[in-house]
Amino acid sequence: MSEKAVLVTGACGEIGQALVQNLTMRGGFRVVTADLAPLPDAIKPLVAEHLQGDLVNRVKQFYDYDFDIIYHLAASLSSKAEIATEEAHRINVEGTMQLLMMAAYRSEKYQKPIKFLFPSSIAAYGFPNLAAKIAAGVVKEDEYNTPNTMYGCNKLYCEKLGMYYSR
Ligand SMILES: NC(=O)c1ccc[n+]([C@@H]2O[C@H](COP(=O)([O-])OP(=O)(O)OC[C@H]3O[C@@H](n4cnc5c(N)ncnc54)[C@H](O)[C@@H]3O)[C@@H](O)[C@H]2O)c1
Repeated sequence: MSEKAVLVTGACGEIGQALVQNLTMRGGFRVVTADLAPLPDAIKPLVAEHLQGDLVNRVKQFYDYDFDIIYHLAASLSSKAEIATEEAHRINVEGTMQLLMMAAYRSEKYQKPIKFLFPSSIAAYGFPNLAAKIAAGVVKEDEYNTPNTMYGCNKLYCEKLGMYYSR
């Protein structure tokens, strides 16, 4: 069976490095990574190609690849996003939308499904105050989708973008 071509964005981060290691252990994948940072030594030998730089400016480059699976992990996380809100929106929303558009375009053009995996966050949920949070207890997927942070707003919106582009 031929190898599946995989793109892992944010591969140098906490989850990205563990994912690359796990994909290698499972076997059958050709892993291409993208991150602002250079590849850490721990995963360097596991990666076929690393595209270093701001992914928002590089998405055009990804159109040249025939990815079967995209793990889109690159993001500006909660505390950083709350300090640099505009930059977080650019990375988290613009970056995700550009990648989704690329996947949808290629999928339609070549009549082939592309799996797009996007980790959302608990920050996509929000409560008006602590009393409301305690009263709510365990919430359902579509309850309290009223985030209070830039990171949460970005994640929730990108969930919706994913559903939109999957159609
Ligand atoms: N860690 C958690 O507990 C957790 C929980 C829920 C969701 N997530 C999501 O999982 C994903 C990975 O989380 P993590 O904990 O590994 O984060 P992390 O901060 O360790 O890694 C993120 C990586 O993205 C890269 N990155 C940031 N901006 C970039 C850009 N413009 N272009 C290219 N690369 C860029 C960073 O250099 C970094 O290596 C994120 O989308 C995060 O929102 C994480």
